Amino acid sequence: MNTLAKFALGMMGQLRPKPARGDARPTIKLPTPDRRSGLPLMQAIARRRSSREFRQDPLPRPQLSSLLWAAYGVNRRGGGRTAPSALDAQEIDVYVALPEGAYRYDAKMHSLVLVAASDLRRVTGYQDFVDEAPLDLVYVADHARMRRVPVAHRESFASAAAGAIAQNVYLFAASEGLATVIRAWIDRGAIADALGLNHDQQVLLSQTVGYPKDK
Ligand SMILES: Cc1cc2nc3c(=O)[nH]c(=O)nc-3n(C[C@H](O)[C@H](O)[C@H](O)COP(=O)(O)O)c2cc1C
Repeated sequence: MNTLAKFALGMMGQLRPKPARGDARPTIKLPTPDRRSGLPLMQAIARRRSSREFRQDPLPRPQLSSLLWAAYGVNRRGGGRTAPSALDAQEIDVYVALPEGAYRYDAKMHSLVLVAASDLRRVTGYQDFVDEAPLDLVYVADHARMRRVPVAHRESFASAAAGAIAQNVYLFAASEGLATVIRAWIDRGAIADALGLNHDQQVLLSQTVGYPKDK
């Protein structure tokens, strides 16, 4: 669907998920992430950029595993994560929209947990490429986990935490030769409905990842 059509449907509240492509398993146990591969940090930083042209090819499971671990996995004993959070609230959930269904990344189990057995990639943003790129991430803040953070700061602190996760994804993508772009031009209500979020959960940002289109 082109960007204008998507935007118009979004304005009318008609931006709907598509039927799933393939069977969505209720849980996907991800393989152990590869912590040794990748470019040296400075080279990855040097290559970081936003790209908006994606091939449709899916990411192989090991690469998806490493991507999600880099994004916001558990990286040490005691449950610490690859991105910071104010008072260690760990309030961000990473949702993963795949053609076969939408999942929540369970960092502790390093697994994907099914939340919607439909293809809701097209609901994750107004830009046309989100429909067909193999993977759209959605960053959601759960305010129920931020009880110790002053109310006035919860949204900005959660947004900062989501930004750190997004940068992890950018650097992983740069290191792996993947294309990615963080996106705020999204319909937060449509995404919340499609993911079945509760009123404590706030959709912050989305991010598309995939192989770059050949120039
Ligand atoms: C908070 C935020 C929101 C953004 N939203 C969008 C968006 O909705 N769509 C998009 O294509 N790019 C979006 N971007 C990406 C910027 O356009 C991009 O980072 C900027 O043009 C600089 O390019 P670079 O990332 O390649 O350095 C966003 C970036 C940030 C930080």
